[in-house]
Amino acid sequence: MTTRSKFVLLVFAFMFAGNLVLSHSYERPPARKTVSVPLAEDADSTSPQQVQFLLLQIFLWILYNTGDVWYHGEASFGHGQLALMNATQALWAWHRNQDDEEVVGHLVWLTNLSFDPACKVHISMVGPDKMRISWITEDDVTPIVKYGTSSGNYESSATGTTSSYSYLWYESGKIHDVVIGPLNPDTTYYYVCGPDSTQEFSFKTTPSQLPIKFAIVGDLGQTGWTKSTLEHISASNYDMLLLPGDLSYADFFQPRWDSFGRLVEPLTSYRPWMVTQGNHEIERMPLVHDEPFTAYNARWHMPFKESGSESNLYYSFEGRVYKNQKNNCGPIYITIGDGGNREGLADKYDEPQIPISVFREASFGHGQLQVMNATHALWTWHRNQDDVAVAADSVWLTNLSIDPACKV
Ligand SMILES: *[C@@H]1O[C@H](CO)[C@@H](O)[C@H](O)[C@H]1NC(C)=O
Ligand SMILES: *[C@@H]1O[C@H](CO)[C@@H](O)[C@H](O)[C@H]1NC(C)=O
Ligand SMILES: *[C@@H]1O[C@H](CO)[C@@H](O)[C@H](O)[C@H]1NC(C)=O
Ligand SMILES: *[C@@H]1O[C@H](CO)[C@@H](O)[C@H](O)[C@H]1NC(C)=O
Repeated sequence: MTTRSKFVLLVFAFMFAGNLVLSHSYERPPARKTVSVPLAEDADSTSPQQVQFLLLQIFLWILYNTGDVWYHGEASFGHGQLALMNATQALWAWHRNQDDEEVVGHLVWLTNLSFDPACKVHISMVGPDKMRISWITEDDVTPIVKYGTSSGNYESSATGTTSSYSYLWYESGKIHDVVIGPLNPDTTYYYVCGPDSTQEFSFKTTPSQLPIKFAIVGDLGQTGWTKSTLEHISASNYDMLLLPGDLSYADFFQPRWDSFGRLVEPLTSYRPWMVTQGNHEIERMPLVHDEPFTAYNARWHMPFKESGSESNLYYSFEGRVYKNQKNNCGPIYITIGDGGNREGLADKYDEPQIPISVFREASFGHGQLQVMNATHALWTWHRNQDDVAVAADSVWLTNLSIDPACKV
């Protein structure tokens, strides 16, 4: 293969990887820097996996005809510009002939998927007073977490287990899993992951008494909207996050689980995230990789054993809330998505609108559930276009076990 064709392949591989990994936007690009990057060597070290993946995706596309991996379709004459910013970031911009030269028809940030210093730490509750700490390293290190209630002073430690998984040609890093505790409620703990790390993280345990505040988000993905949703959530001072499915939108391409881990780490290392799987976690390929949920189960251990389940796909929590409208004694179900996924907003509705459907609007955002006391909880919906303090919609929920009319 000539250097030129390697270059072309690399560009396509980068374009493709970037298309999948990052958000796109219609902003103007920042001023470009000139950087010298040894492309031919890089093509040797980083592109084969991406090229293989490109071929695989084309194969899958033909097989399933999902079309889902493409962001933006438009026919226009023009030219592209690829600006390599530094060792981690490049910018692809499409310039259409009908526009002025400085107008960008379409813009995509691309990341270097080989560059990965982050540990992708995330934490989840185990029973009432323990926390599971999960993180990933390239090297095999002892799975130990040192922790304490003051910064830099780790009076306790615990060790756990390490695992990894393979998916086609992808080999995951070393996935470490350590349960620490017992911990005091509503307390900030400082911790480091691994025997030699100096990077300190902190988290706050959930309160043992009401009120408690949950942040709830679905279909998170890793787009510009995801970033906006995460910024809103981190400003909301919640105790625990619930994510009922569709996390990384890796959709077979395993490095995207790593980029997702990096993206959410500031939040997932800081508050417990309790997640469940959605269809984007299945990643089953008939004949090629028959086992479903491989990456999800390896990377996001939930407390299934502690809640008496045999599968990481099922676990339980204490607590129920009931709805006080329409059927005064019926359960309330909250269906949530639109956290930032690359499939875009779910804005198709059944027509005509049924009478019990009060309001319809498609917006990216997250929900908050504040359980105030034993009788009252408040559900609010926070759109990304608003300030996080603004609730675009809200409903009070009351505990029906104290309502005599609902006794069974
Ligand atoms: C690389 O460039 C991007 C975009 O200019 C910037 O956000 C990022 O911080 C840079 N990374 C490093 C390691 O310099
Ligand atoms: C991508 O990151 C790897 C690992 O840090 C580095 O060796 C390589 O040079 C980077 N690629 C580019 C294009 O800078
Ligand atoms: C529970 O919280 C609601 C809403 O904040 C309040 O109106 C109610 O008085 C509280 N009930 C008790 C028993 O404190
Ligand atoms: C609802 O009320 C019942 C009966 O008072 C109580 O046992 C239960 O804990 C309450 N639920 C919540 C979420 O506080």
